[in-house]
Amino acid sequence: MTRDGSWSAVWKESGSPHHEALHNQAGALTEALQLYASLTVPNLFQDYPSPPGGSIRILDACFGLGYNTWATWKLLAESLDQNPEFISAPYLIQTLAYEQFSEWAAFYPQILALESFSSLKPKIPPLEHNIYYQTLVSPLQIRFPIVTTSLQLDLYLKDLRNFVQDAHTSNLTFYRIFHDAFSPSVCPELWSVELFEGYARHLDPKFGLLITYSTAAAVRGALQEAGFKMIRIPGVGQKKDATVAALSQQALERVLASTPGASPLTLEEEAYLNSKAGIPYRDPALRDSSESVISRRQAEQAGSDRRSGKFFRGKTAQR
Ligand SMILES: C[S@@+](CC[C@H](N)C(=O)[O-])C[C@H]1O[C@@H](n2cnc3c(N)ncnc32)[C@H](O)[C@@H]1O
Repeated sequence: MTRDGSWSAVWKESGSPHHEALHNQAGALTEALQLYASLTVPNLFQDYPSPPGGSIRILDACFGLGYNTWATWKLLAESLDQNPEFISAPYLIQTLAYEQFSEWAAFYPQILALESFSSLKPKIPPLEHNIYYQTLVSPLQIRFPIVTTSLQLDLYLKDLRNFVQDAHTSNLTFYRIFHDAFSPSVCPELWSVELFEGYARHLDPKFGLLITYSTAAAVRGALQEAGFKMIRIPGVGQKKDATVAALSQQALERVLASTPGASPLTLEEEAYLNSKAGIPYRDPALRDSSESVISRRQAEQAGSDRRSGKFFRGKTAQR
């Protein structure tokens, strides 16, 4: 259990020395609400008074126990209660999610039963207990109607790197991308330039935001190389900051104006980004092992004439 009373889980790959908690220990739910949901819901209806094709899409990369989606839906449900004029709008808010391990599905009913999600209860049919059984079918598609506005979850039990190649996503544009993979040192292949280039092709160029807890220089370096601009926003618990990236400066300006503590990257962070520490992970065919992705970066760092990142160690956040 994390410190706000919400459940987490620990992932350990068999045969691997790595293990990592799925969530911020300060609070799985708190991070989902403060970082991902609250940068999504408040502007959604204003940004799309009449969404193209009637759909607004969110990509929840690395779904895990689903907190980022459930938290977004909770705020959405509460927002609809306060703004009944939107209830009659013919919106479909569709979340596409990727997850590699079907084991987590057994916990979804428990997570949705948390008191914090009680505002969702009257708005979704009692589907919770079917989720586990439906995740045995791949790809899974469950639709949760909220009043007359529909929420739809399409959960794909696949490696996230398929997102870039999957035909069903090839023409889709996303309003938000929640990038919540395991840390770059454990899962470097999910923080590569090529994966982020895939995101750049699918993020709404005007309002779209990519949100991640990571502030690692390698991650920001990959985002920068993939064409993103970025800012820092306050993190949760021990994590001082988090990163919000966008294709347009306008999208970031709105976050800067509406999020207390949000700011452009500091000069020190910019310098760190331009040191060897900012050399990104690369995965050209989107199918290399973690080890290959790490050694490719180490080789590039060894041959680079950038300043060493050690100079900055301890001064800037890393994860
Ligand atoms: C930090 S956790 C995400 C927590 C999640 N957002 C939540 O709210 O519970 C990272 C997740 O990435 C999943 N994962 C690991 N490798 C993956 C891959 N290659 N493709 C998709 N998901 C992956 C893990 O199973 C884990 O659930």
